[in-house]
Amino acid sequence: ASTPYSDYIKGVIRTVRDWPQAGINFRDITPLMQNRAAFRKLIDAFVHQYQEQEIDAIAAIDARGFIIGAPLAYELNTSFVPVRKKGKLPFKTLSETYKLEYGEATVELHADAFQAGERILVVDDLIATGGTMLAAAKLIKRVGGEVVECATIIDLPDLGGSDAIQAAGFKIFSVCS
Ligand code: PRP
Ligand code: ADE
Ligand code: MG
Repeated sequence: ASTPYSDYIKGVIRTVRDWPQAGINFRDITPLMQNRAAFRKLIDAFVHQYQEQEIDAIAAIDARGFIIGAPLAYELNTSFVPVRKKGKLPFKTLSETYKLEYGEATVELHADAFQAGERILVVDDLIATGGTMLAAAKLIKRVGGEVVECATIIDLPDLGGSDAIQAAGFKIFSVCS
């Protein structure tokens, strides 16, 4: 991905070495959000990318995806749909379980989150193995939504997640990699 904002946004993301465990370079977006100009530019980058597309709802992934999903839904004048970690949604839900580097995780979506045929943009902060984003995209398809694209701030291409998501038939947009 390359937008007019890519280098700037990359420059305000902090890398924390060996966190939460040895060998992981954690990409910390808190300095980006703390910087009001950078946070605004980030949302603008997504708005610029999607304002000409017909999008009915932003589906944002618990928890860091919510931070960008909500302002984006507001700016694009769409609905906001939460994809949540297991056990948080109170109504009838669908769930997808996926593998993590160790163990597994489950994300859930309300069965009535949107109407069949609605055009949905899935957003999260980062794609690593791609498990989280792919599970969310699959949930949206199962409810009958059309996944317009999977959008993220950061793609870590060496981990193969974005390739796997594309191999499953979904498009990806990332502000930086
Ligand atoms: C992180 C990140 C992505 C996901 C990426 O979320 O925010 O959602 O991992 O990893 P993957 O591509 O290998 O699935 P995390 O589950 O750590 O929780 P948080 O968003 O609640 O902080
Ligand atoms: N989630 C999964 N891998 C990550 C990383 N390297 N940095 C931040 N969040 C992550
Ligand atoms: Mg997350």
